[in-house]
Amino acid sequence: MADAQELAENQRRHWQDTYTAHPGMYGEEPSAAAVHTSRVFRAAGARNVLELGAGHGRDALYFAARGFTVQAADFSGTGLEELRRAARTRGLEDRVTAVVHDVREPLPLADASVDAVFAHMLLCMALSTKEILAAVDEIGRVLRPGGTFVYTVRHTGDAHYGTGVAHGDGIFEHGGFAVRFFDRDLVDALAGGWRLQEVHPFEEGELPRRLWRVTQSLPR
Ligand SMILES: C[S@@+](CC[C@H](N)C(=O)[O-])C[C@H]1O[C@@H](n2cnc3c(N)ncnc32)[C@H](O)[C@@H]1O
Repeated sequence: MADAQELAENQRRHWQDTYTAHPGMYGEEPSAAAVHTSRVFRAAGARNVLELGAGHGRDALYFAARGFTVQAADFSGTGLEELRRAARTRGLEDRVTAVVHDVREPLPLADASVDAVFAHMLLCMALSTKEILAAVDEIGRVLRPGGTFVYTVRHTGDAHYGTGVAHGDGIFEHGGFAVRFFDRDLVDALAGGWRLQEVHPFEEGELPRRLWRVTQSLPR
């Protein structure tokens, strides 16, 4: 079992290596979560979107193609290189910027400067409860009043929960990927001070991964 800092560094290396070996590992099509979220953001009147944990950009590019201005962040520069390449290929480079950023650090953005935030399978990475709470505080800081945050996370109903290498704080590792499995108490804790609009269960991929899609917004 690695300590928290060692685990975080191992994971960053693992994601770098994974995107080097499989630059477009999640495919070119957007996730179902992003397709739904694009409609939610549009209905809320959002124009610019911050995506955290964007990886190689299947969803960031979808938001851009739907007319949003997108700031994409991930701690893997390799993933973001692929995102930039794909943005150029699709003629979307004017709508998407990409920045290497570890979600455990403060966001390099001004207060109340973004309309909407999306994070698909980021908060369920190798993050402690304290780091997750701090990240959501930061998201609340950069979102404008009334802004919408949609995130997805694997939860304790997932087949991998409680199996593989245990790292503590609900984190279990399979095939080199460490995942933090959410319980409902954590979702509720992250909604403190927000308006919790929806906790929607869904599945993705072959296992299948079992996830919640959570929608919450700031008071106006
Ligand atoms: C399960 S993948 C999902 C990628 C993308 N959201 C998608 O669905 O195509 C998780 C992503 O989070 C990134 N990530 C993991 N831990 C991170 C951290 N501490 N800070 C920023 N990004 C992180 C990984 O590099 C990876 O791209």
